[in-house]
Amino acid sequence: MKGVILAGGTGTRLYPLTKIINKHLLPVGKVPMICHGLEKFRKAGIEELLIVIGKHSAGMYTELLGSGQEWGVNITYKIQEEAGGIAQALSLAEPLIKADEKFVVLLGDNLFEDSLAAFVQSFQKQAEGARVLLKKVHDPRRYGVPILKEEKILLIEEKPLQPKSDYCVTGIYMYDAGVFDIIRSIKPSGRGELEITDVNNVYAAKGQLAYDILDGWWTDAGTFRSLYQASSRLLGGPSK
Ligand code: DAU
Repeated sequence: MKGVILAGGTGTRLYPLTKIINKHLLPVGKVPMICHGLEKFRKAGIEELLIVIGKHSAGMYTELLGSGQEWGVNITYKIQEEAGGIAQALSLAEPLIKADEKFVVLLGDNLFEDSLAAFVQSFQKQAEGARVLLKKVHDPRRYGVPILKEEKILLIEEKPLQPKSDYCVTGIYMYDAGVFDIIRSIKPSGRGELEITDVNNVYAAKGQLAYDILDGWWTDAGTFRSLYQASSRLLGGPSK
């Protein structure tokens, strides 16, 4: 299976840091943020990686990661010209994925404890569709929030004011190659982006969106507070 790390976007919630360096190159623990996703893939045996980056700081990624050889992976890079949304960034993976291939996507600002291996195995056994990983959180309004029915997701509401569950959809997604047709079928949201939640809701409507729940800690690192929490987790300090 191949892995895709999405590291485009503008990172405005971390201004002014992200005016001078792309969010996914900021330190989390002892290494730049992007390295954590790369390690998660490598440890799950996923060594063929695509990293989608913006134009900002693009050269720094190749300086840090090169071909991936030193990190035990093989990296292809794609540039997302504008921050057109997570699903738009994902569409850049289409030329690398074969028609019958399944693959795993990580948002570059998601940090987590669990190994990906068992989840990837479950997805390999899944006949069709997509699979996402959920985590119980204190503040679901910041995230995509699923409405669950047994082992399937019925619908995801993006940043709802009144969340219908305590779970968030993390930025760890598994797709079949049908995802690219779905991305072509969706329209930009009110904020002008192709939303990953709209893509996932197409799978949900077909009864093809399965999920697992993360056991260990999970955080995004897109705000000053969560960036600090992620570093604290990794360095063993206070995380609250
Ligand atoms: O972290 C999990 C959450 O991520 C989910 O619960 C939400 O459903 C999902 O929409 C997303 O929400 P955010 O508002 O946190 O997404 P954000 O715009 O911050 O983008 C997250 C990552 O996606 C970022 O680290 C880089 C990548 N990205 C984002 C955009 C907008 C791109 O590669 N290109 C883009 O154009």
